[in-house]
Amino acid sequence: MSKETKEITELILKAKAKALKETSSEAEPELTRPIKWPTDCIVGPGLEGAIACETKIGYVNGSKGWLIYRGYNIFDLCAYSTFEEVSYLLLHGYLPNEKQLEGFKKKMLLFSHIPNTKRLLMGFPIENMKPMAALRMGTNLMRQEFTDVDKYGYLSNIANIISADEDSIPMETEPMGEEHAIYEFKRKQLENKIKDDLKHAIGFDSCYHLLAGVPSLTGVVARIRDGHLPLEPKSELSYAGNLIYMITGREPTSVEERVMDIALILHADHGMNASTFASMVVASTLADLYLSVGAGIAALNGPLHGGANEKVIEVLKDIGSVNNVKPWFDKVRAKKGKIMGFGHRVYKAYDPRARVLGPLAKYLSKGNPEAKKLFATANALEKEVVSTLGKEKRIFPNVDFYSGIVYSSMGIAPDLFTPIFAVSRVAGWTARVQEYLRNNRIFRPRAMYVGPFDKEYVPVKQRRAAKKS
Ligand code: ACO
Repeated sequence: MSKETKEITELILKAKAKALKETSSEAEPELTRPIKWPTDCIVGPGLEGAIACETKIGYVNGSKGWLIYRGYNIFDLCAYSTFEEVSYLLLHGYLPNEKQLEGFKKKMLLFSHIPNTKRLLMGFPIENMKPMAALRMGTNLMRQEFTDVDKYGYLSNIANIISADEDSIPMETEPMGEEHAIYEFKRKQLENKIKDDLKHAIGFDSCYHLLAGVPSLTGVVARIRDGHLPLEPKSELSYAGNLIYMITGREPTSVEERVMDIALILHADHGMNASTFASMVVASTLADLYLSVGAGIAALNGPLHGGANEKVIEVLKDIGSVNNVKPWFDKVRAKKGKIMGFGHRVYKAYDPRARVLGPLAKYLSKGNPEAKKLFATANALEKEVVSTLGKEKRIFPNVDFYSGIVYSSMGIAPDLFTPIFAVSRVAGWTARVQEYLRNNRIFRPRAMYVGPFDKEYVPVKQRRAAKKS
């Protein structure tokens, strides 16, 4: 472990100690017991407080500010684990042993090659599309029967598919030359090694396919709109490292790789949030996992949800400097405006994810004057908001507040922040969908009808212009 990665682990453990001092991890009895249907709960607008199902995947204690995946607290997972381990944990319910982890990593690497889906996606004008729209289309394309050849079931054939693909679309080679060309790593050898492991993938194949494929799609979107050809992942890089590489075209430093890994862990799952719920609603109709993940991507895109991270950077740039923070904040407050990156439906305490991302943003921004300025402005804004809205309304920074500074410091463009969020949340979406489908019941709430009942139908020619009601 390098000096820097050790320092990063220390920052996380410091954040954990601070969280422990300021909060405690007691569970809320009303949210941590088996459900006896029908159950009572007090429901507010936006289904606030509604209980939809039981889960063993994760728990968010909003009043204390704690986040747990399958029993492990988020700080320990960030300090000691990796995104590959965490995805496995979320999907399967337990941390993998060494052999299982190796098998999983190999599958992820193999499944990240989706040449036919990529080829289809590149047929659309994705350079003119919002990255989240292109990503959503990509997951739809992954689903098509036509591109099923990208799936493991056709594995015996994959070398042929890839080489055929190599002839048909010019894939860019690495800057270092021919021996590092994108398709040069030993696929054939890899295939044979993992064939046995794949037999156990039944039931999870689509989860793996999506988990491995969405970062590749994000890479296609990032590269094409920057005027480059997509890159294939490298076998020597981790999931997080390959994500940075496929987006930026350069190999990340060990610090960037580690920080991206932590960011992915932090975003992997978060209870019944809007995008998770959207993907579960779609899955509950027995539509497939690709369409469910597509629904999750659509919901995540909104500025009240995952889209806030992109907006935060716009706001910080708009504020410009520490000196402008107070006048800017007073103006927004006077208009009762919402500040992006603050507030949460569940957290009425400091979001533990922001506790980790804040120090990481500071750490990464050290060598980057622009990011340093953004961090200083963000830090001043946090102090202003917490000392006022924190006290009055329990409003604190959420996960989206500092993540943008982290990604900006790696040279990633703001409109790719939400796609990166989606890459990570695929783990939570797929795990929760799998779990829900074991006891599936189609989601079907009711609305309270408050309209009229006995209106008389008037033929169109006799109608007067209706007044707005
Ligand atoms: N800035 C200022 N005031 C806020 C903020 C904010 N960011 N968030 C909530 N408030 C205020 C509201 O104005 C409201 O005040 P009032 O009671 O005087 O009317 C009160 O706090 C409650 O707010 P609601 O909007 O009712 O809270 P809700 O639970 O519906 O919304 C949400 C949560 C959408 C996250 C909200 O806090 C918000 O819009 N934040 C900004 C967008 C954002 O950062 N989204 C990312 C969330 S994290 C994620 O999804 C990954």
